[in-house]
Amino acid sequence: MLANILCMILLVLPFTKSLDNGLARTPPMGWMHWQRFRCVTDCAAYPDDCISEKLFRDMADHMVSDGFKDAGYEYVMIDDCWASKERDNVTGRLQPNPDRFPSGIKALANYIHDKGLKFGIYADYGTLTCAGYPGSIDHLELDAQTFADWGVDYLKFDGCNSDVMTMESGYSLMSAYLNATGRPIAYSCSWPAYQEPIGIHPNYEQMSKVCNSWRNWDDIDDSWGNVTNILSWFSKNQDRIAKYSGPGHWNDPDMLIIGNYGLSYEQAKSQMAIWSIMAAPLIMSVDLRTIEAQFRDILLNKEVIAINQDSLGVQGRLELTKDKIDFWIKPIKPIVDDYLSYAIGLLSNRVDGYPYRVNFTLSDLNLVNGNGYMIRDIYDSVTIGEIIKPDDVLFIRVKPSGTVLLTATPLSSSKTVTRI
Ligand SMILES: *[C@@H]1O[C@H](CO)[C@@H](O)[C@H](O)[C@H]1NC(C)=O
Ligand SMILES: *[C@@H]1O[C@H](CO)[C@@H](O)[C@H](O)[C@H]1NC(C)=O
Ligand SMILES: *[C@@H]1O[C@H](CO)[C@@H](O)[C@H](O)[C@H]1NC(C)=O
Ligand SMILES: *[C@@H]1O[C@H](CO)[C@@H](O)[C@H](O)[C@H]1NC(C)=O
Repeated sequence: MLANILCMILLVLPFTKSLDNGLARTPPMGWMHWQRFRCVTDCAAYPDDCISEKLFRDMADHMVSDGFKDAGYEYVMIDDCWASKERDNVTGRLQPNPDRFPSGIKALANYIHDKGLKFGIYADYGTLTCAGYPGSIDHLELDAQTFADWGVDYLKFDGCNSDVMTMESGYSLMSAYLNATGRPIAYSCSWPAYQEPIGIHPNYEQMSKVCNSWRNWDDIDDSWGNVTNILSWFSKNQDRIAKYSGPGHWNDPDMLIIGNYGLSYEQAKSQMAIWSIMAAPLIMSVDLRTIEAQFRDILLNKEVIAINQDSLGVQGRLELTKDKIDFWIKPIKPIVDDYLSYAIGLLSNRVDGYPYRVNFTLSDLNLVNGNGYMIRDIYDSVTIGEIIKPDDVLFIRVKPSGTVLLTATPLSSSKTVTRI
């Protein structure tokens, strides 16, 4: 049986050598400015919101003081709109906007490193970034070196204004240039996000050899509809793409929008739960200075994060839909008597006002340990029943657009005997 399980885990991994920079062995966790702060550059009018060194220092401070660093969030990342509109006319290097980053990027990286955090930056494979700042297309090697010189630990490499058909070779070349700097830099690729929407199936096997993570599809905006659109795309394509996620290389459904304007409390718990089951990078994009406590607590929930960061590194999948409740499952540790544990997310697509009572059995989800399972409700921090056998009928109430997140831990034969 163990052999079968190992075989199953191996089968879901591609038989190729994946990117060997030692990074992202579990899904990357951090903070990135785009979803919440976009491209605000008017620091006179919006001193707290504009894309400036102050914003990233503030966020690094709160990552440490408010428990995010301790919970595992480590990268503080700049997205688009940090650069000057012109490269340095002597060296040809990218340079930050001098008014908004007067101390320079290296000083900002140092500040973040001194807090025990890591630093990420953004560039674009094309002629211009999505917001119209200088692109990297004719400067790949120089830009890789510049980022290494600055102390960059993570590069988000976008794909606006580029030739989509050259992305596989171009992104691979950038990966080689990053490697050649000698500095380990986690490399987030955007090439599928430009190929998938126009119907091209990108070469995920090659991607998992050169990128630590990749944005598969469209950008998230601040709405529940965006979350459900993304989940629907990922579930439709899970048989094709999930197998390429694993330690060192991850599918990325985009940032967490928890704590912003668009999600209710229940919806925020849903995004956190299902992103964790999908082994998605957990990249917050929220104002950590003003986030409400109830949303902060979702982002800091250690048991949910543990599901996301589980060392098996298997991307979960939509297994069953019943009564408009989606059942997402992800194999996790511990393995007991050769049986895997699972995280189970029951996500309601219902709108009929009350917590809907759905029934199911563990065998409906192919959890078949005859000795049964211990079931824990993660958000409510309670154990459901003593021993749940595969064919026992469970009744769970799920709020509209909410998610009940469970873990099922197999019981061993000896434990069953002592409990009975
Ligand atoms: C180079 O850039 C600097 C500052 O951005 C500017 O003062 C100078 O005139 C530029 N030189 C040339 C040759 O364009
Ligand atoms: C560069 O690639 C080699 C071979 O895959 C690997 O051993 C090394 O750790 C990489 N170095 C960096 C800095 O990513
Ligand atoms: C997010 O929602 C906006 C507004 O409905 C839409 O334009 C955009 O395409 C959506 N993106 C995704 C990924 O669903
Ligand atoms: C379980 O749910 C189904 C609907 O999916 C319903 O028809 C059935 O009566 C329920 N079973 C019990 C025991 O409540």
